Amino acid sequence: MASIEKDIRTAIDLLTQSELVAIPTETVYGLAGNAFDAHAVAKIFEVKDRPTFDPLIVHTSSMDRLMDFVGEIPPNAQKLGRHFWPGPLTMIMKKMPVIPDLVSAGLPTVAVRVPNHPLTLQLLKNIDFPLAAPSANPFGYISPTTADHVNEQLGAKIKYILDGGSCRVGIESTIVSFENDETTVLRLGGCKIEDIESVIGKVKINLHNSSNPAAPGMLESHYAPEVPLVIGNIDNLVKENSDKKVGILSFYKEFRNVKPEHQFVLSGEADLEVAATRLFTGLRYLDALNLQLIITEYLPDEGLGRAINDRLTRAEIKRS
Ligand code: TXA
Ligand code: MG
Repeated sequence: MASIEKDIRTAIDLLTQSELVAIPTETVYGLAGNAFDAHAVAKIFEVKDRPTFDPLIVHTSSMDRLMDFVGEIPPNAQKLGRHFWPGPLTMIMKKMPVIPDLVSAGLPTVAVRVPNHPLTLQLLKNIDFPLAAPSANPFGYISPTTADHVNEQLGAKIKYILDGGSCRVGIESTIVSFENDETTVLRLGGCKIEDIESVIGKVKINLHNSSNPAAPGMLESHYAPEVPLVIGNIDNLVKENSDKKVGILSFYKEFRNVKPEHQFVLSGEADLEVAATRLFTGLRYLDALNLQLIITEYLPDEGLGRAINDRLTRAEIKRS
């Protein structure tokens, strides 16, 4: 193990002692603990203030290692794994008893993913347990895409943040299940539906799970800034809210009548992949300005635009 960098070594040592470490992935930073160790997993829920009915994603370094904790890999999962792993795709499979019930919120299934980040892949290859890791933010808030984001909110509660730079994709993984021999997308994310369908054909999409405890993380209000957010025609919304201190999160252009420093443009070139990378940074930036309202707009409903629109919709629904 002499070739392992010092910071990865530190992460390995802490994780082996049931401690938590924030890890970089290509989507967002995760708050990781040993997925086989119920004690470490309990700490994850505590630090995030996350309800225990919301199950965690388990991260490993390759499809082969799924055999350690997954009952069976459905044929479509094999195909998708071969195509997209390591990458921003999470798949739901039958779990083996070695995965504590706390990880899966009592469900007979477990969510698994091979993340695509060189530091985290090296880390995963050098431990003999997988890592349970939700996004490293307080429950319901915007996910972190830099080590600074993690530090601002959870720094005091965790021992170590493995700094792997800014997340390349910037939006959480796409989640897919295979129940009843049907491939169903449960969460839109960094792996595009169009790409998934090019590998296995048409898939079902079922994102509204407020009545479905199988995907409790898909709560209607999630990924939300503290400041209220509204989506629509930006010019109109700015006029309607002229009595308020507003900020704008726009797709590609700046608007008149609002200070430039109260605006965040996702991608000057109108590139959806760039917009995804900058989405959570933009929301955090505006949320820190003491505004009364964040005004934003829907992006084109294609490619990563679909996942971005999903996050904006969930952010719009105010927490009571
Ligand atoms: O990109 C990502 O997926 C990031 C990085 C760190 O990998 N992780 C992430 O985790 O977004 P989290 O905890 O924020 O979202 C996990 C969601 C849960 O809220 C739930 O909707 C779904 O995964 N999930 C987990 N286990 C499940 C299961 N057995 N059945 C259905 N959905 C499940
Ligand atoms: Mg999350």
